[in-house]
Amino acid sequence: MNAKLIENAKIFVKSVFEGESSGHDFQHTERVYKTAMKLAAEEGADLDIVALASLLHDVDDRKVSPETYDGKLKANAFLKEQGVDDKDIEKIVIAIKEAEFLGKDSVKPSTIEGMCVQDADRIDALGAIGIARAFAYGGAHSRKMYDRNVKPKLNMTAEQYKANTDGTTINHFYEKLLGLESLMNTKSGKKEARRRTEYMKEFLNEFELETDEADY
Ligand code: ADP
Ligand code: NI
Repeated sequence: MNAKLIENAKIFVKSVFEGESSGHDFQHTERVYKTAMKLAAEEGADLDIVALASLLHDVDDRKVSPETYDGKLKANAFLKEQGVDDKDIEKIVIAIKEAEFLGKDSVKPSTIEGMCVQDADRIDALGAIGIARAFAYGGAHSRKMYDRNVKPKLNMTAEQYKANTDGTTINHFYEKLLGLESLMNTKSGKKEARRRTEYMKEFLNEFELETDEADY
């Protein structure tokens, strides 16, 4: 592992996310990095590629940095400036691009490194932390927590998913989160996704119970 390079990447990512609190923050990146490295070790993936792709996976996020999203320009510029060779930069950028959730247009990553990053990012959208992030996101985007009259939009395409700005946070569970478990790539990623999904289902049952019109 190139320890100095990884350290520099952490410092860079921290500076990018200064002041972010909508679910895309440095702590999310740190958790994704940690999970991705665990999966990478189990899967025998290239640890440097996984480390850099997981650390840089959200610096050019569609919502945080729309102007650099397409070309992953911040990640590219950082890696170039650090002297990473072009072949590795390409591998890292492809892993970042393929990790993104885009409704039914999401892809299965073409490399094991990409699979580790995608699984780690998705695991962080599940469980207790996933619930917390969803409501933090909903609050930051002035979304309603729930509304029985707004139905979840299932099977959205990439374009529809990106344009879906008026949904409720509870619907996000049905539109994205509950479907992630079946899309996991790695063995222990699947296992962890299953555990966290069960926990979210319990939460949804309880939420339903407490917000229903029925008498207690
Ligand atoms: P990620 O960084 O995990 O790829 P996103 O960029 O899609 O995820 O979103 C960041 C966080 O906000 C995730 O935890 C995700 O589940 C949540 N989120 C995204 N869209 C919505 C939404 N419409 N309503 C509630 N939460 C959302
Ligand atoms: Ni992410």
